[in-house]
Amino acid sequence: MVALDTIAEEILELKKDRNAVILAHHYQDSEIQEIADAVGDSLELARTARDFDGDVIAFCGVLFMAETAKVLNPKRTVVLPDLKASCSLVESCSAEQVRAYREKHPDDVIVSYINTSVEVKAESDILCTSSNAVRIVNSIPADKPILFLPDLNLGNYVKKQTGRENMKIWQGACIVHATFPARRLSVARSEHPSALVAAHPECPSDVLAMADFIGSTSAIIKWCAASDADEFIVMTESGVAHSLERQSPGKRFYFVANENCNCSECPYMRRNTLEKLRDCLLNLTPRIELPQDIMDRALLPIERMLAVK
Ligand code: 13P
Ligand code: SF4
Repeated sequence: MVALDTIAEEILELKKDRNAVILAHHYQDSEIQEIADAVGDSLELARTARDFDGDVIAFCGVLFMAETAKVLNPKRTVVLPDLKASCSLVESCSAEQVRAYREKHPDDVIVSYINTSVEVKAESDILCTSSNAVRIVNSIPADKPILFLPDLNLGNYVKKQTGRENMKIWQGACIVHATFPARRLSVARSEHPSALVAAHPECPSDVLAMADFIGSTSAIIKWCAASDADEFIVMTESGVAHSLERQSPGKRFYFVANENCNCSECPYMRRNTLEKLRDCLLNLTPRIELPQDIMDRALLPIERMLAVK
């Protein structure tokens, strides 16, 4: 087996040759985060992709994130180490279902979480991520009915925060966050009584009710770094441990296993490896190729989201 250091050196060489940038989500393995030019949450990575002016984006995350980068860079090459890096939320909602809903409810504003396929984005009015969902919904006139899709836990959280009664919520869920049981969080709290709880809004409402802070992956990392506390129970994917430990040296972080895999890892995110990253920069494949008309239609709701401050 080739040592990881050697693969990392190959990646750095290829990156120069290809005039490429490596973008990585906080859920990626540590060695991928270490070699990336930028590590962030889904909104930060979309903004970084929008501002890129090189030739190749190697996106270390899941497919919907790489598709968003491609829509923002239609002329550039976007590669993803493993095309099977999907997301249970993406799979919970098809473009046909959204079209059928639109036909029945033509006045609804369709707010789609960025965790959707590019085809669903093309059917949407505006996108949001976990870090701006409340702001996005608040930017819509109060008398407008809303369909929020596809994450039911994020949708319920946003509905509560915004007080929007006229908001329907799709019933999709994240296989990682939606299966964190509140009773396991209670056990963790009794084992670590000084720890504060930070949770991602994809967690169920009974978990969110126990949280001292609710936010996106980057918001959780920043909040833990700024806090005076030394210990935290972190209710999100355990890949964030890398950035948490880098930005909060000496603090302690505990993760709670979910009921799906008895772990806190996203199996889709884990499909990417350093070897696959090297190979995709070498071969420029798997490459994100999308129909032009779908990209044109998906761009508008993405740009609307990016315009909301
Ligand atoms: P963030 O927007 O916090 O990066 O979350 C993305 C995601 O897939 C959460 O499971
Ligand atoms: Fe999708 Fe959940 Fe994985 Fe995030 S953690 S990419 S929402 S399956």
